[in-house]
Amino acid sequence: MNAVDIIIKKRDKKELSEAEINYFIHGLTKNEIPDYQVSAWLMTILLNGMTDEETKNLTLAMANSGEILDLSAVVPIEVDKHSTGGVGDKTTLVVEPLVAACGLPVGKMSGRGLGFSGGTLDKIESIPGFRTSLSQDEFVDLLKNKGLVLAGQSGDLAPADGILYKLRDVTGTVQSIPLIASSVMSKKIAGGAQAIVLDVKVGNGAFMRNLEEARQLSQLMVSIGKLSGRRVVALLSDMNQPLGNAVGNALEVKEAISTLKGSGPADFLEHCLTVASHMLVIGEKARDIVTAREIVEKANKDGLGWEKFRSLVINQGGDVTYVDQPEKMPLAPVIREILSPCSGYLNEINAKVIGETSVEMGAGRIKKEDQIDHSVGIIIHHKVGDFVKNGEPLFTIHAKDMNSMENARDRILSAHMWSDSKCEPLPLFYEVIQ
Ligand code: URA
Repeated sequence: MNAVDIIIKKRDKKELSEAEINYFIHGLTKNEIPDYQVSAWLMTILLNGMTDEETKNLTLAMANSGEILDLSAVVPIEVDKHSTGGVGDKTTLVVEPLVAACGLPVGKMSGRGLGFSGGTLDKIESIPGFRTSLSQDEFVDLLKNKGLVLAGQSGDLAPADGILYKLRDVTGTVQSIPLIASSVMSKKIAGGAQAIVLDVKVGNGAFMRNLEEARQLSQLMVSIGKLSGRRVVALLSDMNQPLGNAVGNALEVKEAISTLKGSGPADFLEHCLTVASHMLVIGEKARDIVTAREIVEKANKDGLGWEKFRSLVINQGGDVTYVDQPEKMPLAPVIREILSPCSGYLNEINAKVIGETSVEMGAGRIKKEDQIDHSVGIIIHHKVGDFVKNGEPLFTIHAKDMNSMENARDRILSAHMWSDSKCEPLPLFYEVIQ
């Protein structure tokens, strides 16, 4: 068996055996298969797909590429959530502390930015000192003693996903159902989550463009979860416009902080309360979704989520003065408010264009080794369905220089579409698959 033959087999649209998938994953994890062959293999999977059997084998091979945490002796039940990637999606920063504040331990393995979508790790690292690279012992210790931990894919947990994720980000191989399903579920299985809420994004700012694809991805992840003895529920949520207002790392952390303190955008808060409620039900903390919602809303109103977020920052080495005074967070040198060039109802705020623009501005990576600029991004002031008047603030750009600001201004203006007639706001959620 060798890597070239396996690439050729997938190139020729043939089904890979479990042994071939194991061979490839083992080889890339041990650094025996070079990046260029791994990238070529990823592209064949993106173009030719995988059967459900291949995807299941790929997921298990990736999960087994390192340690698999067994947390059953550490906490009664460990819940987790994972988003398939969107624009302005800072949900984890609010939901995880909120759920932990309701008494359910949360141990989260998050990701970095992928393509035009942002990543929780890149966001939280806007807080100086915050450590996302934790050893297994640290992860378990924090989960057991503090009930909340937020870490990245580490050397010994699903290392194959770490390698594939970085390559997919920069080789145009993100948008693939088998690659997304295996990436998400291998991390969840390796991280020991027993109950998982998947936030499957649908729309132009997501990797699943329509409900049909999102359902297919959800069903696949739910069945892989079941096979590994995990409880999984998938929420299909809208990603045709950014979630909340902020897009960009430090800007999103600030928005998460204001949401935890009671003054965040309404759509983002509602999204977080819904995801958190489902986590409480699947984690057996509430008997039904109505009861869960009451518990979560109370914890939020009482500021318990905010207190948990502060403890999370302190426990993982972050400088808490940055979250107590978010104005200390990195600030871009050029900040410009852009006004609406006309009056009308907004009928599109294209999330993909906004995500791509924020990556170009430096909030994401174009090459594997690119450094993130935590300060840059965009604040979108409206939602689809809003009426805006000519000359009213439309969005604010935070850029590294004038040139970047001007490019971003033109692209973000082009992401907005107006209509003379009234248009409906977009839904937050479409359906639930379990
Ligand atoms: N999140 C992941 O962890 N992997 C993907 O491929 C997409 C979103």
